[in-house]
Amino acid sequence: MYNFFDLISDIHLDFWVKPDSNLRKMEKKIDLFVDSLIPFSPSNVLVIAGDLGHFNNQNVFMLKSFMRFYESIIVVRGNHDLYLVSGKQNKKYRSLSENRWIEMKAFANDIPNVFVLEGDTITLDGITFGGTGMWYDFSYGIIECGKTREELYQLWSKEMRDRKFIKKQPDFTKEELRFDRIIDESDVIVTHVGGDWSQLLQNSGYFKKGEDLTPSFYFFDGSNWFDRLSGKIWCFGHVHDHYDYTRNGCRFINNAKGYPRDNPGSKIKTVMI
Ligand SMILES: [Fe+2]
Repeated sequence: MYNFFDLISDIHLDFWVKPDSNLRKMEKKIDLFVDSLIPFSPSNVLVIAGDLGHFNNQNVFMLKSFMRFYESIIVVRGNHDLYLVSGKQNKKYRSLSENRWIEMKAFANDIPNVFVLEGDTITLDGITFGGTGMWYDFSYGIIECGKTREELYQLWSKEMRDRKFIKKQPDFTKEELRFDRIIDESDVIVTHVGGDWSQLLQNSGYFKKGEDLTPSFYFFDGSNWFDRLSGKIWCFGHVHDHYDYTRNGCRFINNAKGYPRDNPGSKIKTVMI
């Protein structure tokens, strides 16, 4: 028997609906935005693979709005879910991104049947989902482009907004341990950052190997786990390109909404398992 779940990531809500002190007005706009994402026949479970938006109170409205259509929602943390984008936010969260994420998790956990996964698994509708945000590890630049970690760190500091808006980066080794813990049990693995950059190299018209180093900050090297992925589905986001391909017996899927310029008309994707 087949089973289904729905997938989206990188919603970046505040790019689609401006934060508004008139909460009623904002809620209405969020409902309309959410309506525009819903497929013709939604599944019971919605997976959101990170990057909800920059403001927790808005994100909560969005999760509640999604619950008009879904029985359960699974969320993992994205890098933007750690951003402190204003002086007001820095003050509120005492210049510590983790405090914003702790608040977001508490808000989400207050909504019945919304589950934030951070090295945990949950079985819904007969499917075991395991998730954690994960983080990029510069491996693409080191392995594919022959750069040193130091060179990549310089580039990252100069070019990536993560450097500016995340106050204290998450510990990558902790994320790796969480990922390792969920992988065998899961039918569906959910991370924000993906662990396979092979498609970038195949689309050489878009990314020329060794020329564009930014994928170093878009993926981690998941190859250590590839022999444990057979028969599974791995949902990821972070990059705003859509992917759906099979490698090492694992189906990798990205259904990022992204910024308005990225995939303007795209909707939630239904995945058959
Ligand atoms: Fe991201």
